Amino acid sequence: MSGMIPRQFIDDLLSRIDVVDVINARVPLKKKGREYSACCPFHSEKTPSFTVSQVKQFYHCFGCGVHGTAITFLMEYEHLDFVEAIEVLAQSLGLEVPREKGSTPVKHQKKNNSLYDLMQEVSAYYQQQLRSNPVAREYLDQRGLSDDIIARFNIGYVPDGWDHVLKNFSARYSPQQLLDAGLLIEKDQGGQYDRFRDRIMFPIQDKRGRVIGFGGRVLGDGTPKYLNSPETDIFHKGSELYGFYEARQHTRKLERLLVVEGYMDVIALAQFDISYAVATLGTATTQEHVTQLFRAVPEIIFCFDGDRAGRDAAWRALQNALSVLRDGKEIRFLFLPTGEDPDSQVRKTGKAAFEAALSEESVSMTDYLLNHLAQQFNVSSREGKARFLEQAGKLLSSMPDSIIKDQLIADMARLTSIEIALLKQRNIGSQPAELQQSFSRLSDREVRQTPVRFAITLLLHKPDLVAEVENPEQIALFDLPGSGFLATLIETIEENPTINAAALLDRWRNTEYEASLVSLMKWQPESQNDEMLTKEFQDCMRQIRKKAHERKLEKLLHKERVEGLDSIEKRDLIALLTELKP
Ligand code: GTP
Ligand code: MN
Repeated sequence: MSGMIPRQFIDDLLSRIDVVDVINARVPLKKKGREYSACCPFHSEKTPSFTVSQVKQFYHCFGCGVHGTAITFLMEYEHLDFVEAIEVLAQSLGLEVPREKGSTPVKHQKKNNSLYDLMQEVSAYYQQQLRSNPVAREYLDQRGLSDDIIARFNIGYVPDGWDHVLKNFSARYSPQQLLDAGLLIEKDQGGQYDRFRDRIMFPIQDKRGRVIGFGGRVLGDGTPKYLNSPETDIFHKGSELYGFYEARQHTRKLERLLVVEGYMDVIALAQFDISYAVATLGTATTQEHVTQLFRAVPEIIFCFDGDRAGRDAAWRALQNALSVLRDGKEIRFLFLPTGEDPDSQVRKTGKAAFEAALSEESVSMTDYLLNHLAQQFNVSSREGKARFLEQAGKLLSSMPDSIIKDQLIADMARLTSIEIALLKQRNIGSQPAELQQSFSRLSDREVRQTPVRFAITLLLHKPDLVAEVENPEQIALFDLPGSGFLATLIETIEENPTINAAALLDRWRNTEYEASLVSLMKWQPESQNDEMLTKEFQDCMRQIRKKAHERKLEKLLHKERVEGLDSIEKRDLIALLTELKP
């Protein structure tokens, strides 16, 4: 991928666009008091509980809890990733997205654009060739594909021959571009020829529906059965999923996604109205795949072929998914009968039975993990227990802390009849120290409105209140819950005086702090009046200082009683005592 987008650009972008415009262009909003509202586009409802605040540049649904900025709205609503959402917003302002050092120069981006155009044109050419080739059509017919589904997946055909693409596209694209697109192969003795010949062509689309590669299947029993585009500037197998775009186009609100192995599995399932399957591109399921899927849905079901290779693929998927499994997300596995793949199975049993099996016969990832290991090792012997725990511990060590993980450890203890405390003492399943997050966080559970929380809320609402903070450098030294974060927030605003709430929230996107910030962001201050807000903020900062001083005083007094103070501490104590006097 190209270089990072500079922070400053994102901040500027968020301060120039209006979330109300961005959302209103997609979901018409009604003004209601200070805020705008609509029926939530992310869940079905009859009375509007989706609200958008112009002041905070933030949206929130009281019904289903979705919330965020213009960027997250585009990510969710248009199914874009972060960079793509930035690009769409920038485009709406006529801006080009800059990249930091080591980034792709503009020329390169232009080239990619025409790569996308080229791929699109080639896909259209393949589809047109399919229409005029009875043998290829007969093959698809015999595989049971309807005309509708052929059209929905833009399936095509490339006739036999060494230079169909070369000839048809060389007027407008150079051989180098055709090579860069992965459509040609370079001959040793110079010259090029078509990579794909006499194959059914499945175009692979990215999240925005741009064609980025192809999978090509032989019509009969030739080898290789499937030939895929090579990695190119725009095609990365480890991060793309076949059918993802189609699934999201077909269903606005996806609830779960099925991961299968083959193109034909995705297509057959869709033909049976199971339009939520995606396939990896002949590679193992990567962490990046799982992360992307979890961005779209809370539940993933892996459904691989009922053979040795399918089972191996499932175990590999489990290994890669462990590190991205969080509470609130679920991964399940459906193991098909030996010799079946999702394509053959759905044709045999039909939609209803297939979906029933998904719900009733699939196993959770955690059951799969424990059962798989318990089968490998004899957990009734001491040696077996040790090997079981060693293997399970290795797997679990890649998992972040979660309730799911706690339960797994409890189950491991039960299976081996070894106490949890002993497992913990041996650090079984714990993450390597450097991975553990050492900083304390603003507690989600603590709903109490403390002055620190109040100050953060006010700053989010009106970042320029930062001017009211005296001696901001002192705040980092306070020993109050959340005061470290408050100090960072103040510093961030001071460094970026024009930053708004949305851009601030974005800074802490995907961090420990996000949830707390969001909950503070939802709060609506009583007064919109600047003077009142300033006064409230000043009061609040005074309270914080007072609390911090009291806390420090307590600590010093305690230390004095327990172990005595050194001369600097004594001086501090005296200073504090005098400062606190009314
Ligand atoms: P059909 O035989 O057409 O039903 O396809 P399938 O999906 O059942 O094929 P299979 O289970 O053999 O393969 C699953 C996926 O693995 C395919 O969709 C391809 O992405 C990939 N694959 C299969 N065979 C090959 C091959 O020979 N080369 C490469 N590169 N990938 C393959
Ligand atoms: Mn198959």
